Amino acid sequence: MTIIDIIEKKKHKEKLTHEEISFVIKGMLDKSIADYQISSLLMAIVLNGMDEEETIYLTEEMINSGETIDLSNIDGVVVDKHSTGGVGDKVTLILAPLLASLDIKIAKMSGRGLGHTGGTIDKLEAIPGYQVELSRDDFIKQVNDIGIAVISQSGNIVPADKKLYALRDVTGTVDSIPLIASSIMSKKIASGADFIFIDVKVGNGALMKSLDEAKMLSQTMINIGKHFNKEVICILTDMDEPLGLAIGNSLEVQEAIDTLHGYGPVDVMELIVNIAALIVKRIKKIDIEEAKALCLKQLNNGNAYHKFEELVEAQHGNLKDMKISERVFSIKSPKEGYLTKINALGLGEIARIIGAGRLTKEDVIDPTVGLVLTHKVGDYVNTNDELVKVYLNNKDVKVDTILSCFEIKDEKPEEIPLIYEILE
Ligand code: URA
Repeated sequence: MTIIDIIEKKKHKEKLTHEEISFVIKGMLDKSIADYQISSLLMAIVLNGMDEEETIYLTEEMINSGETIDLSNIDGVVVDKHSTGGVGDKVTLILAPLLASLDIKIAKMSGRGLGHTGGTIDKLEAIPGYQVELSRDDFIKQVNDIGIAVISQSGNIVPADKKLYALRDVTGTVDSIPLIASSIMSKKIASGADFIFIDVKVGNGALMKSLDEAKMLSQTMINIGKHFNKEVICILTDMDEPLGLAIGNSLEVQEAIDTLHGYGPVDVMELIVNIAALIVKRIKKIDIEEAKALCLKQLNNGNAYHKFEELVEAQHGNLKDMKISERVFSIKSPKEGYLTKINALGLGEIARIIGAGRLTKEDVIDPTVGLVLTHKVGDYVNTNDELVKVYLNNKDVKVDTILSCFEIKDEKPEEIPLIYEILE
């Protein structure tokens, strides 16, 4: 068996065997297969897909590529939440401490940015000193001690995903249901949580552009969960415009802090309370309205923020030292009318270009840069009203490129729901 035969097979839309998938994952990790060959196979998978059996084989080989975590030493139900990724998606930074403040144990391994989408770990690293790596014992101890730990995928857990993720990020091979499903589910299964909640983002700024694609991805992850005896609940939520106002790492941490104090942007507050309530309802077996009231209370009384501070402190972060660039430009509306579209994908790409994301594997993120919207879709703007503030450092972007992400028309657009569907 050679990697070239396997690439050729996938190029011709043939099904790969378990043995072939195992050969690829092992070869990638022992470096007997070159990165460019893996990238070529990834592109063939993006173009020609994998069926459910191949996706389960891939997930299994990814799980087996490293250690798995046994969380049975943690008292209580352990919940893991994951997002398929979006623009301005700071949900984990808020949801995880909010749930932990309600005594739901959060043992969370998060990822870095992928393509135009931001990653929780890059955001947490905007907090100077925050250590994203903990040993397995320290991870479990911290969850037992304070109810929450958010770490990056350690090198030993699903190392195959770590490698594939970094390659996919820079080779245009992110948007594939089997690759996304196996990437997410291998990490969730290897990290041992009892309940897995996945926020499947749908829309222009998400990896899944349509509701049908998002449902297919959700069903694939639910089926993988069943195969490995894990309960998976997918919440399909909108990502047609950026979530909230801030895009970029320090800026998003700041918006998460505002939301943890109970005064975040309306859409962020609404999404957080709805997702958190679904989880709280399920774990605490209470009514959804009661769960929503409980979550709102934790935001308004400072308990959720306090848990966030505990998390940051436990992982050695120092919020006071977090920096946001002072080179700020205001982009004004060229005309009046209703904002009918804010192109999340376009703004995500701009954020990546100005340094909030990576364009090559070696790129180092600049946490201080990004964008903060002044308006959301549906707002009325006058000529010269500010649309967005851009925080730049040493990389620039043209004003026209930013303006092309905003559509302004005379007609008020229809409202899009924030939560489309829940699948389990
Ligand atoms: N999140 C992941 O962990 N992996 C993907 O492929 C996409 C989103």
